[in-house]
Amino acid sequence: MFVLIRYMGKRDIIIAIDGHSSTGKSSFAKEIASRYGLIYVDTGALYRGVTLFALRNGLINEMGVENPEKLHNQLGNVNLKFGQAARGANSELYLNGENIEAQIRSLEVAGKVSIVAAQKPVRDFVDSILKEFGVTGGVVMDGRDIGTVVFPDADLKIFMTADPKVRAMRRYREMVTRGEDANFDEVLKNVVERDFMDENRENAPLRRATDAIFLDNSNMTEEDQMVWIEKIISEKWKSLKKN
Ligand code: DC
Repeated sequence: MFVLIRYMGKRDIIIAIDGHSSTGKSSFAKEIASRYGLIYVDTGALYRGVTLFALRNGLINEMGVENPEKLHNQLGNVNLKFGQAARGANSELYLNGENIEAQIRSLEVAGKVSIVAAQKPVRDFVDSILKEFGVTGGVVMDGRDIGTVVFPDADLKIFMTADPKVRAMRRYREMVTRGEDANFDEVLKNVVERDFMDENRENAPLRRATDAIFLDNSNMTEEDQMVWIEKIISEKWKSLKKN
């Protein structure tokens, strides 16, 4: 395994991968972590963890966050930790000691997470957890605001997108494979709505950082993307070593 560690003398590398939903950010980030011996941090999982806590504590109703102040005051009772935060390993999320990896992937959590993630105190709470990973580095994080807000000085920033119809088709196929009752037009509508919410919220909206490298993977396989990133990392690595 090619290990990219401690080349800067100060701390290890930080790779920020932001972009639209269903672009395959997490699979891409996990593969990079595994090939380069980095820790993969799924930042969306933390927003999902806070959402699960809010649902379990009756802080969310049909309309959204019922009592934002109550949720904000209770964030002190939310202890989110990744198990196995090891280089190259997949980590699972724990809420107050309980493994919640399956629960945070439920439709119920998915349906409410955008509203919870739009709350400023929730973002500050998640950012404080993420920033701890930045102290030592050696991480690849995927999310919506990693290269713009959380780590504006990340060593490498990628902004991922793909045609909405291509993304919807990927999601639709995944759902069909899982045996779920899926309707392509509804999936497409959801993809477009999520883009709109992510790009237009007041706090930390999804934006391409000016120094992020753009990756449109509409017509790329996962292997094509790895060939693409390996070239970028080897060039970046060379240029960083020179400084
Ligand atoms: O990537 P995901 O689908 O697991 O993200 C879940 C939600 O969290 C989604 O609504 C976007 C939001 N999110 C965010 O606002 N900022 C991040 N850094 C990561 C995710």
